[in-house]
Formats: sequence, C-alpha cells, structure tokens
Amino acid sequence: MKPIARGGVKEEAEKHMGLLKLAQILSVLVVFVAGIILGLVTSSHINDYFRSQAQLFITNNINDVTYMPSNNSKEPPKNDNCSSPLSQCEDCLSIESFLLPKNLTHALRDDELFWRASLVPYKVEYPYSRVPKVAFMFLTRGPLPMLRLWERFFDDQDEKLFTVYVHALPGYELDVSSDSPFHGRQIPSQTVEWGTVTLADAERRLLANALLDFSNERFVLLSESCIPVYNFPTVYKYLTSSVHSFVESYDEPTRYGRGRYSRKMLPDIQLYQWRKGSQWFEIHRTLAVYVISDTKYYDLFKKYCKPACYPDEHYLPTFINMFHGSLNANRSVTWVDWSMGGPHPALYGEANITEGFIQSIRNNGTLCAYNEEQTSVCHLFARKFAPSALRPLLNLSSTVMEF
Ligand SMILES: *[C@@H]1O[C@H](CO)[C@@H](O)[C@H](O)[C@H]1NC(C)=O
Ligand SMILES: *[C@@H]1O[C@H](CO)[C@@H](O)[C@H](O)[C@H]1NC(C)=O
Ligand SMILES: *[C@@H]1O[C@H](CO)[C@@H](O)[C@H](O)[C@H]1NC(C)=O
Ligand SMILES: *[C@@H]1O[C@H](CO)[C@@H](O)[C@H](O)[C@H]1NC(C)=O
Ligand SMILES: *[C@@H]1O[C@H](CO)[C@@H](O)[C@H](O)[C@H]1NC(C)=O
Ligand SMILES: *[C@@H]1O[C@H](CO)[C@@H](O)[C@H](O)[C@H]1NC(C)=O
Ligand SMILES: *[C@@H]1O[C@H](CO)[C@@H](O)[C@H](O)[C@H]1NC(C)=O
Repeated sequence: MKPIARGGVKEEAEKHMGLLKLAQILSVLVVFVAGIILGLVTSSHINDYFRSQAQLFITNNINDVTYMPSNNSKEPPKNDNCSSPLSQCEDCLSIESFLLPKNLTHALRDDELFWRASLVPYKVEYPYSRVPKVAFMFLTRGPLPMLRLWERFFDDQDEKLFTVYVHALPGYELDVSSDSPFHGRQIPSQTVEWGTVTLADAERRLLANALLDFSNERFVLLSESCIPVYNFPTVYKYLTSSVHSFVESYDEPTRYGRGRYSRKMLPDIQLYQWRKGSQWFEIHRTLAVYVISDTKYYDLFKKYCKPACYPDEHYLPTFINMFHGSLNANRSVTWVDWSMGGPHPALYGEANITEGFIQSIRNNGTLCAYNEEQTSVCHLFARKFAPSALRPLLNLSSTVMEF
C-alpha cells in the first residue's frame, strides 16, 4: 500500500503544482495584456502631446527659430543662398567644397587654419572613391629656377594623383602659364626669416593648407633648389606604399646637436629625447595632423630654440621621436651632400651635372630599409642645385631620370 499511498500524495502534489503554474501563466498574461494596453494608450498621448507642442512651437515661435529649415514661410531664411551679399559665403555646403578648396586663397589666420586642418573624420569609410594624392609643397623665397624640370616631371600625369602648393615671400607672384601645375597654387604666406621659427611656421602653414584637401595622403617639403631624381610614377608608388614617414631624426652628441638643447625645455623635453635632422621632410597624413595640432612642444621651441638652435632642424625630429617614432623611417628621401664640410651643403651647377653623378644619386649601391625590406632606391629628390644646372638636367631627364 505504501507505494500507492505515496503515489496518491505525489498525484495530489502534481495537481497542486499544475494549478499553481496555470495561475502563474494567467497572471503573467494579464500583466502582459495590461502592459500592451497601457503602452498603446500612453504612446498615443505622447504622440498627441508632441504633435501639439511641435505645432505650437512652429506656429508661435517661427520668428525666433531661424535655424529651422522651412519652405512654407514666405520670407527666405537669411543664410541659405550663396550669392546673398549678407552671407559672405564662397563655398556653399557641398561635399565637393568640403573635400578640397577650389581656390587656395583664403583669409584664415594661422590658428583658424590649423584648427580647420586638424579635423579628422571619425568614420572610416569615405562617401566617395578616395584616391590618395601626394602633396608637393614648395617653400621658396621667390622664383622657382627648376620650374621647367618639375613641369616635365608632372607632365601627362593624372591630376587626381598629386597637388602642388607654393609658399613664397608675401607679395611675390609666381609667373607661370595657365596650364602649369603650379598655376594658382600659391597659398597665403607670411614673411620668413631663415634660421628663425618663422621658417618652421611656414612649413606648418604649407602642411595645414595641404591638409584641407582630404585626398592628400603624403606631404613632401621641397625648396627651389630641389630636383626630382625619379619619375612621377616611381615617386608616387614609393611614397603612397610606404608604411613610414621619412623624417631624418638622429641623436648628435656634439655642440651641433645636443649642444643646441636648452634646459629651459625641462621637464617637457629631456636631453635624451632631443634629435636633429634635415628640414626637408616627407610625412604621412596622420603625422601631418599630429604636427599641426601640437601647440605645447612647438611653443617651447619658439621660446627656447633660438640661434644657434634652429627649430626647422630640431622640432620635427624631436617631436616625432618623442611621440610617434614608430611611424618614422628616421631617414630622408631628399639627397644632399655635406661632404665638403661647413655650414652649407654642396651646391651643384652646370659644370657638375653628368649622367654618372645623377645615376649615383639614384643608386650608389647602398641599400635602405623600406617596409621591412631593403631597396636600392633611397632618395627620390636631391638638393642643392644652382639655376645653371637646369639646362644639363633637362638634357638628362629623359635618359637618366626617365621623365
Ligand atoms: C517643402 O516643399 C515641398 C514641395 O512644395 C514639399 O513636398 C515638402 O514636404 C516641403 N518640405 C518641408 C520640410 O516642409
Ligand atoms: C539665390 O541665388 C540665385 C542665383 O544664384 C537667385 O536666382 C535667387 O533668387 C537667390 N535666392 C535668394 C533667396 O536669394
Ligand atoms: C580666389 O579667391 C580670391 C579672393 O577671394 C579671388 O581674388 C581670386 O580671383 C580667386 N581665384 C580664382 C582662380 O577663382
Ligand atoms: C625610428 O626611430 C624610432 C625612435 O624614435 C623607432 O621607434 C623606430 O623604430 C625607428 N624606425 C625604424 C623604421 O627603424
Ligand atoms: C662643380 O664643378 C666645379 C668646376 O669643375 C668644381 O670646382 C666644383 O668643386 C664642383 N662642385 C662640386 C660640389 O662637386
Ligand atoms: C652612397 O650614398 C650614401 C649617402 O647618400 C653614402 O653614405 C655612401 O657612402 C655612398 N656610397 C658609395 C659607395 O658611394
Ligand atoms: C645633351 O646631351 C648630349 C649627350 O647625351 C650632349 O651631346 C649634348 O651636348 C647635351 N646638350 C646640352 C645642351 O647639354
């Protein structure tokens, strides 16, 4: 009997449990349905509420709400037409004018320009097909004696792959034909005194103007005495395929290096972080944004790096070494000859230009690191060349430099 009795008890308990469950399910259902009804009722109230508030807002406050787009009002909003004399607006809100300024002339102050140029999209994908460009930035006093060589270098190249910027002394106007890649490419400039911080200011001004074109990916600084030693396709591929920027940066334990460091830069810049390097840099867009966005370290150089300290030789090499060393190849792609000694590098004129000499700049047997590999192409550009070198260089360009 015991098993039956036990079974009976069990059955009773199961029945009880079943009833309990039913009650639970029912109560959940009731709450659920009640919730739906409540939800429907309140949301319709809320909708009504907002609808009525919105109507109030629009009908009663139309004169205060100048920023609300509206096309049923008879008076046009003040700033919605580019040609309106009130708006001073040259570039209307269009993706084209945002992506690149059509006209390089602007009235931005440096602080405004640098802020504008420091804007970086958070979104990874572009709403257009972006082809990376190389920005060739010429820092000159006046005329460009090597202009014809550069024009030949750019001749017949796809204009979507490069841009040209020229920072000349204020008042100087580059005289070039309207089909030249240098035409209309002068940026608003300021006085530059060689050896002072105004030189580094001009470099940053070039960078900032070039950053306004969102397709510019690589930025190379050039002078009036620089020449290209490879053709455009080689230069383009070399730069756009490189994972590193090319800023020479080395520790020079002499009075020409560490000797120019000032203890007044402590505690922000330590002696062991101090670097030297050539002014003629080539950098990636990411690094360019870091450079023009820095105020703290730049101001220290402005204050404490005065002759015989030269900001153009120390600021970038030191700043990049301190914060972005892993992005840098630490070597320059611009060849220069210091072998004669003295404060200035060798200047090459007409008599010095031979096929062998240009070949040795292109490849002298030395290998350089490039993307974890070794390459015989170490230099893409060279300096310094006197105006008299132009004629023999033009004669050599197609046979030796292949452009
Ligand atoms: C603007 O006007 C057009 C046509 O007159 C109309 O279809 C559209 O809904 C209006 N837009 C707004 C925001 O009122
Ligand atoms: C906007 O400019 C166009 C010409 O560019 C002109 O026809 C139009 O009347 C202007 N509209 C307003 C609201 O100023
Ligand atoms: C660029 O803008 C300046 C000033 O706004 C103007 O003087 C100049 O003519 C413009 N250049 C071109 C090519 O549109
Ligand atoms: C360049 O120097 C930095 C230190 O500033 C170092 O971290 C980096 O690895 C060097 N770059 C290459 C390509 O060796
Ligand atoms: C260039 O050639 C001249 C004349 O032959 C020579 O005096 C000078 O040293 C050469 N310059 C260089 C940098 O080799
Ligand atoms: C090649 O050039 C590099 C620097 O441009 C120099 O350091 C090296 O000594 C040169 N090598 C030869 C074999 O001339
Ligand atoms: C150009 O180069 C050729 C040899 O390649 C030479 O015969 C000629 O004299 C050169 N002309 C000039 C103007 O340098």
